[in-house]
Amino acid sequence: MCGIVAYVGRKIAQPLLIEGLKRLEYRGYDSAGVAVIDKDNKLHIRRAVGRISVLENSVLQTPLPPSQVGMAHTRWATHGAPTEVNAHPHTDDGGRIALVHNGIIENYVALKQFLTEKGHTFTSQTDTEVLAMLIGDLYTDIKAANHLPPGASLLQRAVQAALHEVEGTYGIAVICKDEPDTLVVARKGSPLIIGVGQNEYVVASDASAIVEHTTQVIYLNDNEMAVLKPDSFRTMTIDDINVSPVIQQLENKLEEYELGDYEHYMLKEIFEQPTAVRNCLRGRVDQREGRIVFGGLANHTRELVKAKRYILTGQGTAWHAGLVGDYLMEDNAKVVTECTYASEFRYRNPIVEEDTVLVAISQSGETADTLAALREAKEKGAMALGVVNVVGSTIARETDGGIYLHAGPEIGVASTKAFTCQCVVLTLLSLFLGRRRLMSQTQCHEMIDGLCAIPDQMERVLKQSDHIKEIAGKFCDRENWLFLGRGYHYPIALEGALKLKEISYIHAEGMPAAEMKHGPIALINEGMPVVFIATKGVQYDKVISNIEEVRARGGHIIAVATEGDTQIKRYSNHVIYVPDAIEGLQPLLSVVPLQLLAYHAAVARGCNVDKPRNLAKSVTVE
Ligand code: AGP
Ligand code: GLU
Repeated sequence: MCGIVAYVGRKIAQPLLIEGLKRLEYRGYDSAGVAVIDKDNKLHIRRAVGRISVLENSVLQTPLPPSQVGMAHTRWATHGAPTEVNAHPHTDDGGRIALVHNGIIENYVALKQFLTEKGHTFTSQTDTEVLAMLIGDLYTDIKAANHLPPGASLLQRAVQAALHEVEGTYGIAVICKDEPDTLVVARKGSPLIIGVGQNEYVVASDASAIVEHTTQVIYLNDNEMAVLKPDSFRTMTIDDINVSPVIQQLENKLEEYELGDYEHYMLKEIFEQPTAVRNCLRGRVDQREGRIVFGGLANHTRELVKAKRYILTGQGTAWHAGLVGDYLMEDNAKVVTECTYASEFRYRNPIVEEDTVLVAISQSGETADTLAALREAKEKGAMALGVVNVVGSTIARETDGGIYLHAGPEIGVASTKAFTCQCVVLTLLSLFLGRRRLMSQTQCHEMIDGLCAIPDQMERVLKQSDHIKEIAGKFCDRENWLFLGRGYHYPIALEGALKLKEISYIHAEGMPAAEMKHGPIALINEGMPVVFIATKGVQYDKVISNIEEVRARGGHIIAVATEGDTQIKRYSNHVIYVPDAIEGLQPLLSVVPLQLLAYHAAVARGCNVDKPRNLAKSVTVE
């Protein structure tokens, strides 16, 4: 995915565009660029490889001419290496049109060949340049035909005509030196939000680049576009059918996007988890009655309770939350549940009977694979629920109902507070259904009381950050780690391994502890760090046996254990204690030491924790 910010209004665009890009940098950061049109209707483009600061320094040293319309882009390359030539904005070869793009133009090769045969010359390896060239070519043709009604925007028509030729996904912003007061934006599959100000519009990939200018926004839907001028705007489909804009209020405040006193967003968000869980629970648990309240699902209660099967789906960390949810749904709701990668579900021609509910789990609400799985399930007749953090995101808007995380903006590429809040929501869902199926009020009460104790218990785990930092320091030079857990902690083993991999670049593997004997035990060598989640539970003794098997082969044991368990010390090189909790709630506590282990190991290795190499916060492309 990438970050797009665009502006048309009365202010000077350049500083606003660069500031907006900096807020979007977590979305992709291999190169960046900016385009403006000056008062002489000349198009100016500046691009740079690397972080946005490189581009910022360039425009500080050599400012762009004052302009009140422009756009900027921070790239996560899909076609063509991260070079200045491949960075956005891209133009047509006539230098009339500039365009930034999030997504993939799947038929770009055929379009490129067609345009080359028409005499156009390309400079980059990107799919995006082909779209810019196509719009420029069609602009010329439409202009020559000269049949537009007076006052109609030629740029709008050229964009509409081009998008009808395109296969794939896009979120685009387009400007044209012949229409210097006009900004055209369109989306299909990649998010775009229009911030509505006083005679100005700020368009961006997400709210973080808009909220300091306005909290009134319009969420574009797929196949919709907008033509924006300082004193007017129109929204329509790419078929030029007018769309009545729905102006909504942004949920999060500017300060929630700030780093505060923390060194990294990831650390801030790890430490925000107690607050995030409190916000996630607020208004949803009735401790006195032992009930769960989901306002957003009131119209679907019967369908949800009668459902015969639940499919939990997502990618990465969201998929790990789904695995925890799988155990919770079968334990508490006693309903057949499966958890599957969205990317696999969407292509395997899944069996979806009636009375099936698909739960799309996604922090960003924009992950392409999860969105596609959701659409596939709905087409086959399933009801779709969303467990999403970003309000107004595409997945949130395309589900039949949903449960927002209310975790606050998650900026760190490595997902932390969103994961724990996804697990909280899935716990609540399992209790919501369980109480309407076979779960007793007493059981439900116990779980609710346990849930309400989690934030304070998390605080106790977070107090061990320095202890965990010491452990991470001892092993951060090892290139291979194993993470092992059983039952509810199998997904936590996977999550711990993913956290370490994606921010420290250490190879790590998570798996069920029992599975280690069926091959991976061959990996164990002297001093290899092996993290066990060994909290009190029905399989505790089995985990101890697995620890012994690893120790016997020289592995160094890092155990996450239950406070008061002194026995574990006999088997472990290092122990991190977490408070005792009902087994189904333990993942909310046992994941926190693993998040901190990964964080401290990455810092010790000098890695860029918030912007790990090759990654982006949300993968809006396949
Ligand atoms: C998690 O740390 C990763 N950044 C990644 O696996 C992420 O969980 C995945 O891309 C899904 O993102 P989503 O929750 O926004 O859909
Ligand atoms: N496919 C385009 C490119 O590779 C856009 C990538 C993005 O979304 O940042 O440049």
